[in-house]
Amino acid sequence: MELVTNWDYDDFVIDKTLDSGVTATVYLVTDKDSENQFAMKVVKKNRTRVFKNEVEILSQLNHPNVIKLWGSFTPSTHTIGQCMILEYCSHGSLYQYLKSNGKLTEVKAATYIKEIVTAIDYCHSQGVTQRDLKLENILLSDKSDKGVKICDFGLSINQLDNIQGPSGTLIYRPPEIFLEKVYDHRCDIWPIGIILYELLVGSDPFTGCLTDDDCKQMTIAANFTIPPSVSDTAADLINQLLKHVEERITLEDILKHDWLVNMTREG
Ligand SMILES: Nc1ncnc2c1ncn2[C@@H]1O[C@H](COP(=O)(O)OP(=O)(O)O)[C@@H](O)[C@H]1O
Ligand SMILES: [Mg+2]
Repeated sequence: MELVTNWDYDDFVIDKTLDSGVTATVYLVTDKDSENQFAMKVVKKNRTRVFKNEVEILSQLNHPNVIKLWGSFTPSTHTIGQCMILEYCSHGSLYQYLKSNGKLTEVKAATYIKEIVTAIDYCHSQGVTQRDLKLENILLSDKSDKGVKICDFGLSINQLDNIQGPSGTLIYRPPEIFLEKVYDHRCDIWPIGIILYELLVGSDPFTGCLTDDDCKQMTIAANFTIPPSVSDTAADLINQLLKHVEERITLEDILKHDWLVNMTREG
């Protein structure tokens, strides 16, 4: 996919700030020429490596449930950091959605989980491990309630096995990253369990953990309880996702799991 490389900061009107994360602030912008709206992700100046990494990885990926990168540039006249021009998701992140609307119905959660699983399966098929799946990094494209888009590939890596080094947020971190020096692409499956739990319960399974070490111990012991409001089949899937890596359900088997199949059956 060809990226636009000759865009510059002054080619856009900044409409508003959408949100910010650890490495970047994201704005809604309009391209003065085409009048199309985009999201402009401005990565902090000291995060050049993360920026380059995300641009390289996103430019390799093309999937309906992965955010589309249209172009990138270093502004010639402003010192605000480097910019990515991304497809705009007008309904914000799943984190924002959950905060304003509370937990989801099982049918709606299943639709999102199916799309997330399909997208991660695609990333893995392209040799990419995402490494930072969480509610904040899953966007809702529009009102149709379909079409989640995974964003934020700053921590992602072009490698499926023998991975070392950092991974994202504590409460989404799988036991093998807490315990071992090397891990593999299955590190992306555990956080899908945390996300599913959050979508159905409205809070994360390790809410009680106060310190990093607490969180590590609770993760390793898989010390969480699923409230009775969650159906038995959904609870079964959560339990299979939040397992140590050797026993963790595969992406293929998530898609075949009774809960996902029944909840996403058309009509
Ligand atoms: N394409 C987009 N459309 C709408 N909102 C976005 C878009 N990209 C990012 N955001 C919002 O900005 C936040 C930060 O973006 P993200 O790429 O996750 O940066 P960071 O690396 O700083 O976490 C996201 O959690 C989301 O709320
Ligand atoms: Mg983020």
